[in-house]
Amino acid sequence: MANHKSFYITTPIYYVNDKPHIGHAYTTLACDVLARFMRADGRDVHFLTGTDEHGQKVEKSAAAAGIPAKQFCDQVSENFRAMNRLLAISNDDFIRTTEPRHVRASQAIWQALERAGAIYRGSYSGWYAVRDEAYYAEDELTLGPDGRRRAPSGAEVEWVEEPSHFFRLSAWQDRLLAHYAKHPDFILPESRRNEVISFVRGGLKDLSISRTSFRWGVPVPGESAHIMYVWLDALTNYITAVGYPDVDSELYRRYWPATVHMVGKDIVRFHAVYWPAFLMAAGLQPPARVFAHGWWTNEGQKMSKSLGNVIDPFALVDRYGPDPVRYFLMRDLPFGNDGDFSHRAMVNRMNGDLANDFGNLAQRVLSLVQRNCAGRVPLPGVLGDADEAMLGMLDSLLGAMRHSFERQEIHVALNDLWRVIGEANRYVDAQAPWTLAKTDPLRMATVLYVLAEAVRNLALLAAPVVPMGAQRMLDQLAVPAEGRDFRAYGAAGRLQPGTPLPKPLGVFPRFDAKASPAGQAAG
Ligand code: MSP
Repeated sequence: MANHKSFYITTPIYYVNDKPHIGHAYTTLACDVLARFMRADGRDVHFLTGTDEHGQKVEKSAAAAGIPAKQFCDQVSENFRAMNRLLAISNDDFIRTTEPRHVRASQAIWQALERAGAIYRGSYSGWYAVRDEAYYAEDELTLGPDGRRRAPSGAEVEWVEEPSHFFRLSAWQDRLLAHYAKHPDFILPESRRNEVISFVRGGLKDLSISRTSFRWGVPVPGESAHIMYVWLDALTNYITAVGYPDVDSELYRRYWPATVHMVGKDIVRFHAVYWPAFLMAAGLQPPARVFAHGWWTNEGQKMSKSLGNVIDPFALVDRYGPDPVRYFLMRDLPFGNDGDFSHRAMVNRMNGDLANDFGNLAQRVLSLVQRNCAGRVPLPGVLGDADEAMLGMLDSLLGAMRHSFERQEIHVALNDLWRVIGEANRYVDAQAPWTLAKTDPLRMATVLYVLAEAVRNLALLAAPVVPMGAQRMLDQLAVPAEGRDFRAYGAAGRLQPGTPLPKPLGVFPRFDAKASPAGQAAG
């Protein structure tokens, strides 16, 4: 049983048929922000991401590239690790489904399902979309203008007829519905939950879980003419990574069931229907939550290779820098909804929220301290109402953000954080410490102390989303390494008056189209 302090979060494992795009970066980033927040909050975090390397889709891409499948996977999988480095992703493990640990786990879950009587032999005839690696019923398909049948995702389908093993999914309808009813937060957001419930209520058919018409995958134990259905293999990665089949292992006991499987809305059905059914049938616990986020379009258009408008995360970070990209993607739309990427919106967030609101706040405070307090943390006098109100707002902010992050409402947490940044800016303007410098130096010291504390606490809370900038702010406040998690939040980690501070440097540069690329943050 995972202890309540543990926090196991996973991204989908990405197909290695192509290079990473903004959608992949988005899912991984959301998990990273949550993982960083929970770590800073003292939770025992395990953050997993990786690549999905088997199946027909990957086999075909490798063939098209004229490279042996494994070598192709090695290359493309490396691109995903490069994307993680680029975005400062803090994953604890990176799984590849071609690893021996995973082949072993996939075969073990197959055998557990077999022992439980959940698998039978038969033959499959029906439609299959290689792009989605999914089976479709005739009535789910539409006829395109070119006369070809298409899946709801737009993927082309092909007719498949071959011997296959089936998983008795039909037997799980009632138990799945009971599970959703008992755990109302199993699928979030609510709209996705309703969608899944109505799909399951519509009736479940047994699922074909082995294929004989291609070779690139995990062989069915004892029947190597059959390759395991790539989704059964892929979903199993979440338990492979915590030591399955060794359910007594330290990792498994510590982290399973997972706290959150983060997925895009396109793959909810696999995670919220098939996966819990596989697990329960194998006698294992289902994850605590599946959260499905929305999809990005590019300047109003669906992103696709054929349109040539897929946003490359590498180019984006090159242009704007990692912190602004992280912030924009997490902030600009309610997490769970679909969103539209535009450079105008990106620049507005970068210049408005980061450079003007947060960056300037820190810059103003630090240079006032530098100039008027001999570059040392000032000694505060007695606090007045405005000071108490400012510190009070900060005190309650951590609890509010915690509450939002528990439900993956990342945008709500960031909204709250930036509201308090706005309050801190209003406090500076109202207190006008530059005037106090001449009229009342003691009062000035109090105001600047409160402000330095504001910057410290705001930087602690902003670190999960803008880790580089936040760390630079904490450096400039000479906050020691042990003061950089939430144990030091608020009164527990107050700045020590008299501490010498380094010379202030800008933290969040403005984007200047003429001087682009503005990737490099000053400081
Ligand atoms: N390999 C499967 C997942 C197996 S998990 C056991 C897969 N891979 S994928 O490479 O296609 O990645 C899908 C994920 O990428 C989506 O679930 C979503 O997280 C993300 N996105 C892909 N395109 C996206 C957008 N345009 N917008 C947002 N996210 C999208 O499916």
